[in-house]
Amino acid sequence: MGAVVFVGITIFYKVLSSTLKQYPHPLPPSPPSEPLLGHVRKLPMENAHLAHMEYAKQYDSDIVYFNVLGNHMIVLNTQKVANEILDKRGAIYQDRPNFVLFDVMGWGLTLTFMPYGPRFKLHRSALQTGFTKTAITNYRPIQEDEARQGVLRILRRSGQFDHSLRRFASAVVLRIGFGVTVASDEDPYIKIAVNANLATAQGGNPGTALVDYFPLLRYIPETLNFSETLRHARKWSWAIQDLHNIPFAAIKKEYVSENSTANPSFAYNLLDKYRQNEEKGLPNHMTMHDIQGASASVFIAGSNTTYATTTVAILNLMLNPDVFKKAQAEVDRVVGSERLPSLEDRPNLRYIDYLVEETTRWRPLSPIGIPHKSLKDDVHNDMFIPKGTYVYYNTYAMSRDPAVYKDPEIFRPERYTPREEGGDGEPFLVGPFGFGRRICVGRHLAQASVWIMVATLLATTDISKPLDAQGRPIEQPIHFSTGLSSHPGKFDVVFKPRSEKALRLLEAFVGDKQ
Ligand code: HEM
Repeated sequence: MGAVVFVGITIFYKVLSSTLKQYPHPLPPSPPSEPLLGHVRKLPMENAHLAHMEYAKQYDSDIVYFNVLGNHMIVLNTQKVANEILDKRGAIYQDRPNFVLFDVMGWGLTLTFMPYGPRFKLHRSALQTGFTKTAITNYRPIQEDEARQGVLRILRRSGQFDHSLRRFASAVVLRIGFGVTVASDEDPYIKIAVNANLATAQGGNPGTALVDYFPLLRYIPETLNFSETLRHARKWSWAIQDLHNIPFAAIKKEYVSENSTANPSFAYNLLDKYRQNEEKGLPNHMTMHDIQGASASVFIAGSNTTYATTTVAILNLMLNPDVFKKAQAEVDRVVGSERLPSLEDRPNLRYIDYLVEETTRWRPLSPIGIPHKSLKDDVHNDMFIPKGTYVYYNTYAMSRDPAVYKDPEIFRPERYTPREEGGDGEPFLVGPFGFGRRICVGRHLAQASVWIMVATLLATTDISKPLDAQGRPIEQPIHFSTGLSSHPGKFDVVFKPRSEKALRLLEAFVGDKQ
């Protein structure tokens, strides 16, 4: 009871002081606020991106302001304003809101949830260097291997394609992050990955739990705890610990052995640097704990995201037979039928690149992004943005901007074909991977993973809608989940090998891997 009263008084004080405060410039336009609650009741729980598009129209402003329990929040609704604020003035906007709930769960050493500061700089630099366009070419064999295994599994168990895609996405980041291999569907690493993803997904949207606004609540004894999400975070922290500890212990064992046969991985590279520094008597800024956390970031930031994006690509290959045929014809022309596609073919298969870009534009995975937070007061076009403002970016609104994208609801990779080649020359949408100094460090890796999965499917597999008893295609309603990340619900697809030869190529490559 005491805790409830404390929270109530603090909210009251914060809302009152932030709304009565005089600023040197007006705040951005906002809906009318309520006396005690500010704009809490104006923030939609479902399909927030659509509601924010409406607010932007209603207040005729690409920035809209909200006061949430005394915290300032803005939503950026166009690419232009996101570039001006988050890219051009990125130094001011590189902090994150408090993600206390995720810290309680065990993600405290994960870059995505880390506030600005020395540790952020250390992790950001390690991850950014580890996943540049050049650095990721080392991981091509892993991506090709997992994509070929994944497609063969899909062909063998078409009804469980969702499971095969999840395994593909998790296996890629576990191998690249930690150097551990998933050997079968029953592999303990799969269980660890499933549990960690489950625990995280059920933690809700980062930065929205009560404990995120009132960090002291994290210390409340469980007997007095009234927050379901805090209870969940405490109860499931073992799953996140397992993900940090078990694969890391395996690779550390490899790394200390004299004739290490460890696979190339992000963790291994950092451990190697650690050892070299020790041998040379140089300081190690990244501790073992940091290396462990940064490697786990690769998993949590890269597994569900890659899985969901690949699923949306497959959905569109099924829904758009013309796109499917055109993409397949391009693979046939460049790769032929004597071998499987590889990531080296990418420069010659631009239509597949456009298809992957169109996948992330058509349904941006994080429709209003992961919030940044400002480190100091700022002014944009005479609008005041106070220090500590949470900044969301409405990537969905950007993807539907009619000034940039013709018929934005239509899935049309050709929109990116340059004008001089007869296309529309529309720009790729950058928002799905974020902005400024927090832009996704894994974007090149993620696009390559989705690309090789799509190219391998096109080369070996025919994809179509399921048919009813009369041979008519069964249309399926698709419902995208809302929230931090948007996934299509379950849908059925028919996958068939394109030819005996294509199947043999896959089988020969995969061998007896389970
Ligand atoms: C299609 C797949 C992916 C999508 C759509 C995606 C999207 C995003 C988005 C929207 C952000 C927030 C950016 C911002 O706040 O401005 C982000 C951050 C991040 N992503 Fe990705 N991501 C994907 C895959 C990956 C992969 C494979 C990795 C593995 C290295 C990765 C690592 C990260 C990390 C570490 C951050 C945190 C960056 C920071 O806070 O400084 N992501 N990602």
